[in-house]
Amino acid sequence: MSDLASLLTRAWNHRKALQLFSHTTFFRALHLAEHPGMTLDVVDQVGILSLYQSFSEQEEQEVFRTIQQVLPLDTLYLKRRPVEARHVSNTSRDWLSPEDPVWGPARPELIGLEQDVKYLFRPGSDLSVGLFADMRLARQWVREHAPEKVLNTFSYTCGFGLNAALGGSTTVKNVDASRKVLEWGQENYSLNGLTTDPLDFIYGDVQEWLKRFRKRQDPFDLVILDPPSFSRGKQGIWKAETHYGQLVQEALPLLSRGGMVLACCNHAGISMKDFKQQIRKDNPALKFHQSLPVAPDFPSQQESHLKITLWGQ
Ligand SMILES: C[S@@+](CC[C@H](N)C(=O)[O-])C[C@H]1O[C@@H](n2cnc3c(N)ncnc32)[C@H](O)[C@@H]1O
Repeated sequence: MSDLASLLTRAWNHRKALQLFSHTTFFRALHLAEHPGMTLDVVDQVGILSLYQSFSEQEEQEVFRTIQQVLPLDTLYLKRRPVEARHVSNTSRDWLSPEDPVWGPARPELIGLEQDVKYLFRPGSDLSVGLFADMRLARQWVREHAPEKVLNTFSYTCGFGLNAALGGSTTVKNVDASRKVLEWGQENYSLNGLTTDPLDFIYGDVQEWLKRFRKRQDPFDLVILDPPSFSRGKQGIWKAETHYGQLVQEALPLLSRGGMVLACCNHAGISMKDFKQQIRKDNPALKFHQSLPVAPDFPSQQESHLKITLWGQ
């Protein structure tokens, strides 16, 4: 057996031992600490292979073949994510994220399960396919705690908002700068039998909406912050390493008495210690409660870039 074949088998058996499979059909089957340069996500019987370094065509074909031979999957999609692609403006979308699978029947849309919650995945549509698996336990926390009023900012496909609503929150507002992902979020709600109110899926810039909510003086029991590491918005460039503390500061006046902030950050360049220090510096009255673990099919918190932290007054 080739090195990759035995690695994939070992990684698969490890996921089996985690007993993810009966209620969770979306997971990371291979992460970067197990094999530098590539990850494999699985939704149902569909694999999504991400390549983080450049491989020759022959090497790519060898990887595709090995996955087909070793794992019980029907279809494989490819995402190319080499660092240099970000700097090449004319890198074609089709090359980075081919619409068609590299093998197996096309599955442009499919439903994946996470702890019995249903999500819509589009493996051929874009570099991000609908959900980030490493946040699984944070979504679980939100579902299990589900306070009455939740504001889910940078909502993407509304995974946090969906779990708050499923857990019993009565008001859940999702805010994102992409109409496409907000519509996707509504589809996720419907898949799980929830009715949707368009007023709960708010299109726009988070910082502008934080300002509007502050004026309304209608507090939330939980504000979720999960911004990208870098963005260029109306108010200029936003960088997690310098602006995160200020973002928390803008969210604080929205909190009810006893309200909490779930602050997440997936920037490789910021350690957990620096992240907490930055939030503390700009928000001295805020108390750190706990950090939530990264899903067990990923490297541990120490090795992973993802920081999931809970704060209160
Ligand atoms: C890291 S993803 C959030 C993932 C999401 N919280 C989840 O749990 O799946 C970042 C999201 O922020 C949105 N976004 C980026 N800048 C924004 C801004 N200034 N205002 C609103 N949304 C923004 C993007 O459209 C994207 O959906």
